[in-house]
Amino acid sequence: MTNTNNVYTGKDIREKYKKELKLFGLPTGTKLDEMFYEVDDNGNIRILNGIPSLSVMNLVGKPDTGKSVLAQQFAIMQIAEGRSVLFVTSENPARHTYNALIKKAKAMDVDTDKVDELLYIIDITTDWELREEINKLIETMKYAYNKAKEDNKPIRITVIDSITGLYEAKEFAARSIARRLYNLLKQYYQTSLVISQKRSSQESDSAEAAGGYAVSHIFDGTIVFDKKVISSKFDISLYGLELGEVLRLIRIDGCRLCGHETKTYVFEITEKGLIDIKEPLSDFVKKRRFKFE
Ligand SMILES: Nc1ncnc2c1ncn2[C@@H]1O[C@H](COP(=O)(O)OP(=O)(O)OP(=O)(O)O)[C@@H](O)[C@H]1O
Ligand SMILES: [Mg+2]
Repeated sequence: MTNTNNVYTGKDIREKYKKELKLFGLPTGTKLDEMFYEVDDNGNIRILNGIPSLSVMNLVGKPDTGKSVLAQQFAIMQIAEGRSVLFVTSENPARHTYNALIKKAKAMDVDTDKVDELLYIIDITTDWELREEINKLIETMKYAYNKAKEDNKPIRITVIDSITGLYEAKEFAARSIARRLYNLLKQYYQTSLVISQKRSSQESDSAEAAGGYAVSHIFDGTIVFDKKVISSKFDISLYGLELGEVLRLIRIDGCRLCGHETKTYVFEITEKGLIDIKEPLSDFVKKRRFKFE
């Protein structure tokens, strides 16, 4: 049978959703904030100053590349600005996630009382039902959104670290799980970071995540994290680093909602555990090349 409910004219949409969706940035506190932009009606570039509002961004990378660090830094930055954050953790139990976030807050000079007030955590590290049954997780997330609204602290930001944990033993379902979560995040007007892990066998600077190519297409954009260990004479002369040193790289692979920087950037994780994005890899290489020759 034909379902006429899903057919709209432009006017239907305008009348149904009276307010125009405004695009603005939600800061991460890193240089990433300068890397998303919009061209305004006069043709001028307007830097968004953060992650595009209402976007669901996929953070992809191998182990230990800085995905969780960025997601936590974003969560704390948003809490500092007074927004409630839902942090869904399938990796690190709630207590450890909370500890990591408190540490970030201290490193970023953010009042830890604000974290206590505005942070909601859903821990699915050990609850097999929640991990295995996407419907249950969706119901739980809806409960959190509704509860926060009742508490007068509506959740605007969601972090899922990681989505890969939800289809560990059933990669055939990866795409439908990602789609269900994407739809939920859109329904609740969330600006979200969703983390996907990559296997070491996968090409490291691609957006391909465990579960196949298909997952990253579902999201509004992808940020790829990479880490290169200097391991050859060629690396030494190209990057001007010493044998065994680590070069961390970050790149916005795509974003459907707005323009973005396309260059690969070099970044560091500071002693305090914060992401510090430095300069484009091309500039870094130009400056340092042949240093050890
Ligand atoms: N508090 C901290 N202080 C200093 N360095 C840290 C801190 N937290 C993380 N790091 C550094 O950041 C690196 C990346 O950590 P992160 O947890 O973000 O990796 P990840 O990409 O989420 O990996 P995985 O896919 O395994 O979850 C760590 O290996 C460590 O070197
Ligand atoms: Mg992680």
